[in-house]
Amino acid sequence: MAARNGCILLPVTWNDLFGEMDTSYRVNICGRECVVPYDNKLLRIYQYIDLELHIADLSLSLYCWNAQCHNCKSVILDRESGRPKEVLACQTQIYEGLQVVSPPIGLKFTDGGETPPHPPPGPPRGLLP
Ligand code: FES
Repeated sequence: MAARNGCILLPVTWNDLFGEMDTSYRVNICGRECVVPYDNKLLRIYQYIDLELHIADLSLSLYCWNAQCHNCKSVILDRESGRPKEVLACQTQIYEGLQVVSPPIGLKFTDGGETPPHPPPGPPRGLLP
């Protein structure tokens, strides 16, 4: 363990952050088909597409990771009804075929494609009309 500027630096590996990399899900994030490590929350996947796939930039300092700030609010297509649904990415477990249609504030795509509008601020409203 090393110390620098009064901070203790813990060794962090990809597996520490994202879990085992040998099993993956296919998800669609705003039109981008992505193969991502399974058993993760959606917010962690946003971090993955920034740090590993290099198709997005995520402002990590905006997120509390514990359902308090609502900054991670995203719109996905509900698995059963297919309707848009607002969720907190830090509380949403990913699954095969997950589709995100609106990313949280603090995420913008860097792949040259468009970043869809972010959901309005405030707590998630669940299924949208
Ligand atoms: S990161 Fe703060 S509510 Fe999800």
